[in-house]
Amino acid sequence: MSVYELVQKRRTIRRFQQKKVPLITLRKIVDSGRMGPSAMNLQPWEFIIVDSPEFVVKVFDNTKWAGYLPKEQGPPPPGEAPTAFIVVLHNQRFKSKWTGHDIGAAVENMILVALEESVGSCWIASINRVSIREILRIPEEFEIDSVLALGYPAEEPLAFDLDESVKYFRDENGQLHVPKRTMHAVVSHNKFGER
Ligand SMILES: Cc1cc2nc3c(=O)[nH]c(=O)nc-3n(C[C@H](O)[C@H](O)[C@H](O)COP(=O)(O)O)c2cc1C
Repeated sequence: MSVYELVQKRRTIRRFQQKKVPLITLRKIVDSGRMGPSAMNLQPWEFIIVDSPEFVVKVFDNTKWAGYLPKEQGPPPPGEAPTAFIVVLHNQRFKSKWTGHDIGAAVENMILVALEESVGSCWIASINRVSIREILRIPEEFEIDSVLALGYPAEEPLAFDLDESVKYFRDENGQLHVPKRTMHAVVSHNKFGER
């Protein structure tokens, strides 16, 4: 699949098969994060691969899912939880005003390489950082940016042209639909507003 096709196909996954992602695949995903671009080449990131079932459950208990959906539709139900997490940290020593951009590029690299390996993901910023720090013994000089929930997908969300609302929803069959602003809505040519 071309990078373009991957990018078009990529959707956030919140339902997972209970088949473990091999550690070698998780390491490949992280390896693609560490190779991302960063302002001044500071590479402010570090990553924790979490794949032991005991710790996966503990991290999972400190994540929030799909804020637009009713409680019963958002988080993965029992039996469809992620099987691994990558916790994304940034080292305060390498902080710059562009750290957020750097982290964003690294995480998107990881999401796309995961997908190339047939691994679905949900990037989660709504997390309990105090608990996760304690559970994984993360030193104070590292800020916890977010976590990437991972696993083989058990759902296939669909994108559609955004009409009014940015809110994704599940239909009566549980299928997730994700509105995306159209090319027409977001692209100008030569002068702003010229479509
Ligand atoms: C920085 C960032 C933080 C996010 N945090 C959460 C989160 O806390 N929980 C969640 O379920 N999804 C989270 N998402 C996923 C978004 O909800 C998702 O990307 C958006 O609805 C568009 O869907 P798509 O990724 O399938 O295109 C986050 C995405 C980004 C980029």
